[in-house]
Amino acid sequence: MTAEIILKGQVLAFDRSPFGEGAPQDAAKVTEAVALRDGKITGTGTLEDMRALQPRSEVVDHGYKLIAAGFVDAHVHYPQTAMIASWGKRLIDWLNSYTFPEEMRFGDRAYADEIANRYLDLTVANGTTTVCSFCTIHPESVDAIFTAAQARGQRIVAGKTCMDRNAPEGLRDTAQSGYDDSKALLQKWHGVDRLSYAITPRFSPTSTPEQLQAMGALWAEHTDCLMQTHLSEQTDEIEWVRSLFPQARDYLDTYEEFGLLGARGLYGHAIYLEDRERDRLREHGASLIHCPTSNTFIGSGLFDMAGLMAEGHRIGLATDTGGGSSFSMLRTMAAAYEVGQLRGTPLHAAQLMWLATQGSAASLRMDDKVGNIAVGMEADLVVLDLASTPAISQRSERASDLWEAIFPTIMMGDDRAITEVWIAGKQAS
Ligand code: GUN
Ligand code: ZN
Repeated sequence: MTAEIILKGQVLAFDRSPFGEGAPQDAAKVTEAVALRDGKITGTGTLEDMRALQPRSEVVDHGYKLIAAGFVDAHVHYPQTAMIASWGKRLIDWLNSYTFPEEMRFGDRAYADEIANRYLDLTVANGTTTVCSFCTIHPESVDAIFTAAQARGQRIVAGKTCMDRNAPEGLRDTAQSGYDDSKALLQKWHGVDRLSYAITPRFSPTSTPEQLQAMGALWAEHTDCLMQTHLSEQTDEIEWVRSLFPQARDYLDTYEEFGLLGARGLYGHAIYLEDRERDRLREHGASLIHCPTSNTFIGSGLFDMAGLMAEGHRIGLATDTGGGSSFSMLRTMAAAYEVGQLRGTPLHAAQLMWLATQGSAASLRMDDKVGNIAVGMEADLVVLDLASTPAISQRSERASDLWEAIFPTIMMGDDRAITEVWIAGKQAS
């Protein structure tokens, strides 16, 4: 731990989105060193320039390792940590069989603390420095994750998951208590240190219109907060929404009608979107969150990354732990690549790295703080070994450029590829 340091390696930063005009790799730039001081990035460039900038700094030489912004995971359920990789169900059965019984346990603060810390240990071991998490209906579950993240100096987003119907006894609040508890937690945590509160109706099937209305009212009172939920993940879920909200034009309308569509809205999955929904989401500048390991694991479907990006949507990338089958954003990038292949639109390694860092940060509206390596940004970094296993190194050593050297780690890498993690300028792992 030191307040001032220079890291040398292959420092990866993005000047613009690699989904725009031009070759994806041209959006990135690689420099030799990055200087950190007091939790912020103070410079990037040659080692000589960084030494001139911070003459008293210790220099840590990482050779050919890749130094990137810490990964940003834009949609997770930390309370599902201990039931990840549960077999054989689709969304609604999976929720009822595995998820709800586990989430029931989070009224116990000691259990919530244990899982919150276990979750943050697992994610930092995988190079993830920022997450946006659903909690459970219990305020204790929110206090647990914010307390754990605060102690680690982490920038995270979290919110109490509100549900007042179609969930078991013991896992339901009411429209009023969901509003009151969310408001109290928001006032307690939002903007404290690096913590942000997200208003969190789970999804339309588990909220009455009264609760959605109350969530919309709370968001209108706190427009600087994010709002996170789920949208159009599976076809039978969409049918269910249609039967619960017969007057709604489509799934998105069940949010829109109650003031739950906006620029700071995060909509997880968004696989089966009608044209009207795509138009409205884009007009509002809402964020769609792609959760590829979840979408294949629960058997949901193939997110239209290429089509939605071409339309100008704001898109983040996420594990969706524990519907997703991994804590790793490397594994998540690999799954996003595979989903792209199945749709005939493979993503470039530069696009995958951008999605896992700046893209996700932009989806959370915090790309001015995290998700890139640039002067003034918060010093959340990951150092990646591009030859972490024999299988990876025998491929990456044949690479003819940096992207070919990175791609085997994206496709085959795991926590062994994570050499170091820095959070707010301090070494975290
Ligand atoms: N839809 C509503 N709740 C959930 C959840 O916990 N996980 C996933 N993948 N989808 C959901
Ligand atoms: Zn989710």
